[in-house]
Amino acid sequence: MAKPKKDQYEIDPVDGLKRGVIGAWGVEDKHERMQKYIFASHAARRKFWREYGKETGFVDLYCGPGRARIRETNVVADGSAVVAAKRSEACTPFQRYVIADIDKELLAACESRLRAVGVSNICALCGPAEETVRPAINALHKGGLNLAFIDPFNANLPFSVIETLGELNRMDQLIHFSVMDYRRNLSTMMQDGRLDSLAPGWQKVVSKTMGVDEQRNAVFFHWKGLLESKLRYKVSDTIVRVRGPNRAEIYWLVFASRHDLGGKLWREIANLGPQRGLI
Ligand SMILES: C[S@@+](CC[C@H](N)C(=O)[O-])C[C@H]1O[C@@H](n2cnc3c(N)ncnc32)[C@H](O)[C@@H]1O
Repeated sequence: MAKPKKDQYEIDPVDGLKRGVIGAWGVEDKHERMQKYIFASHAARRKFWREYGKETGFVDLYCGPGRARIRETNVVADGSAVVAAKRSEACTPFQRYVIADIDKELLAACESRLRAVGVSNICALCGPAEETVRPAINALHKGGLNLAFIDPFNANLPFSVIETLGELNRMDQLIHFSVMDYRRNLSTMMQDGRLDSLAPGWQKVVSKTMGVDEQRNAVFFHWKGLLESKLRYKVSDTIVRVRGPNRAEIYWLVFASRHDLGGKLWREIANLGPQRGLI
C-alpha cells in the first residue's frame, strides 16, 4: 500500500530541504543503470557537442526532490537528476537539464541540489508531466542528443508524454513501467480511463478471460508496440525487472532509442550481476 504523503518526505538536516523516504528498490537498480548508461554514452554526447555543435540534454519530468533516505536506514542517496549530473559532469556533461515535478517544493529542492553540484543550465517546470512536456522539449536543442528519465511513482503515465518527448528525433527514453500497480488496480484503471491514457487501444489485446498477469503482459506488449510502430522507437528487449521485498516485481525499466548504438549500450550495461532479473 502506498505510504501517506507525510511519510514519504522529511527535512534533510544537511540543507533544510525536503528529501524522499523510500524503499531501496526506489534507487539502487534504476539509478545504477541510469548512471552506467550516462557513462557508456558519453562519447556520443562528446561527438554531438564537439563535432556537430549540437547540445545534449537530460530530462526528468518526475524529478522529485533530488535526494532521499532509504527507509529504515540512515543511507542517503542522490535523486535521479543529481545522479545524472554528477555522473555526466565526471565524463561528458549534459549541456542542459530540464526538470519538472507536479510539486513546487520538491521541484525547488531538486533545482537547488543541482545548483549545489555546479549545474547552472537548468529549466525547472512545475506541473503535471502532460503539461510540462511541451515546454520541456521547447527548451532543448532540436537536433541535439537527449536522454529522458521517466519515473512516475505509479502507472499514471500518459502515453502523450512519451509521444511528445519523441517529437525530438534523438530523445532516448528510460522509462519506469510500474507493474505492481497492475496487479492491484488493473480493473479500476480499465474503468477510470488511466489505461486509455497509458496504452491507447489496449482493448484490442485484453480479454476478460485472461488472468491478471496475462492482462498486464498484454497491456505491456501493446504499449511497447505503440512505441515501436507509432513512434518509431526501438524498444530494447533487455527489460530490467526490479523486485522489492519478497521478490515481488515492482517495476520494469524499459529503454527506448531510435539509434542502434543506444540499444547496444543499454544491453551491455543493464545486467549488473548474474542474479538480476532481465527478461
Ligand atoms: C518516484 S518520484 C521521482 C523520483 C526521482 N525520479 C528519483 O529517482 O529521484 C515521482 C515524482 O513524481 C511527482 N509526480 C507525481 N505525479 C506527477 C505528474 N502527473 N506529473 C509530474 N510529476 C508528478 C511526484 O511529486 C514525485 O516527486
